[in-house]
Amino acid sequence: MDPGEISVLVASISIREEKHGFTIISMSPALTLIGSGRSAVVCKIRSTNRVIKVFPSGYEHIAGEEATVYEQLQDCALFPELYASGANYLVLDYIDGVTLYDCLVQGIPFTKKHIDEADQAFAYAKRQGLNPADIHLRNIILTPANTIKVIDVARFKQEEYDQQWEDIKFYLHSIYFKRYCPNRIPILVLRSIATLYKNKLTSRLLGRRKHVRKTGLIANSMWKKP
Ligand SMILES: Nc1ncnc2c1ncn2[C@@H]1O[C@H](COP(=O)(O)OP(=O)(O)O)[C@@H](O)[C@H]1O
Ligand SMILES: [Mg+2]
Repeated sequence: MDPGEISVLVASISIREEKHGFTIISMSPALTLIGSGRSAVVCKIRSTNRVIKVFPSGYEHIAGEEATVYEQLQDCALFPELYASGANYLVLDYIDGVTLYDCLVQGIPFTKKHIDEADQAFAYAKRQGLNPADIHLRNIILTPANTIKVIDVARFKQEEYDQQWEDIKFYLHSIYFKRYCPNRIPILVLRSIATLYKNKLTSRLLGRRKHVRKTGLIANSMWKKP
């Protein structure tokens, strides 16, 4: 696709910011909405294997930051390829699959192997001098090839240490990977775990008092919208 075609597609997307996320008011019929997060909406370009991630007004500066991070990660197959970027958009590989969050909700099993792969991706990012942050289950996609891809690397340049991924792994190992845990976890249960975690109750139940001194993290990251 040439830059002119991409600009036309980006310009066709009109986004309204609501209290709980973004709503697309209009977009080209050549696009299909496939997701939205805390700072952008993501549309598949029909008849291609690519997506456009468009940052609405007020979030545009993130496009440049995320593009720079992707450029540093291009040699690692655990991240999507970046094809183009502009003032308020990125063009990336379309990753077929299901986010690990949706795997939990829909009962699609994933294993420690997938979590180890994600860790390999983060270790690679660290070797590139990055600081992986804002890592949660909606930003990891399980693909039909039974491997994972990490998306949404916009915050990999932040300086502060982000405990979130370690907390998520703690919960996965303490609950989800146990033999008695069902693959499908209803959203209500996920939210209750978040609330319990916030109130430091689960940590007591799981005997991890020390770890959860820095809590509140799961409540606003692991189970809720990114
Ligand atoms: N390259 C991609 N391929 C397939 N789906 C994607 C891709 N990028 C994002 N998505 C979907 O869009 C959602 C929001 O994208 P994300 O990059 O996390 O946005 P934000 O930075 O706003 O959190 C993701 O949770 C995922 O479901
Ligand atoms: Mg995200």
